[in-house]
Amino acid sequence: MFVLPELPYPADALEPYIDKQTMLFHHDKHHAAYVKNYNDLLSGLPDLLAKSPEEILKNPSVVPENFRQKVKNNAGGADNHARFWKWMSPAKPSPTTAVLKLINRDFGNLDTFREKFLSVAQNHFGSGWAWLVIDHDHLSVMETSNQDSPLTEQKNPLLAVDVWEHAYYLKYQNRRSEYLEAWWNVVNWTEVENLLISYT
Ligand SMILES: [Fe+2]
Repeated sequence: MFVLPELPYPADALEPYIDKQTMLFHHDKHHAAYVKNYNDLLSGLPDLLAKSPEEILKNPSVVPENFRQKVKNNAGGADNHARFWKWMSPAKPSPTTAVLKLINRDFGNLDTFREKFLSVAQNHFGSGWAWLVIDHDHLSVMETSNQDSPLTEQKNPLLAVDVWEHAYYLKYQNRRSEYLEAWWNVVNWTEVENLLISYT
């Protein structure tokens, strides 16, 4: 059983970058639906329902094959969005020294990383996510389609941006690049640092 987490700030806290209406629909409708579907799909399987979506994503083979893909989709929707709310903050913290050190080591500098990350997000075909992940102490940018998670590839997420149209269409319509530029202003680098510490 996974419980829909509350937004860690008021729905209008990320204005003007991410608008209140988008946040309310995204959290209260889209994220809520993934969580409900996930719990409903596993309702007759207490052993699986006891697992977190993260555990399922790391090892989807524990789910019977006939509905594995459905469970994986909704586990991803539940877990990715739970992380996504925390990857934004109205406090707009700067990247921390520890995070910058790794970004500089693996991308050259913050600007190069930003360009690469936003370019992968911008060019992702269809619905999905762009990610910064750490794998064997190495940072890289990757993309996933739909609600797939890097956890399934045993890579640890440090940051991600949702490029499903539901993440930006109400305010930015088809202008994904404007959404991404705006989103960059509210990245929660403190959360990136917290994750980095948790993985090391
Ligand atoms: Fe989303």
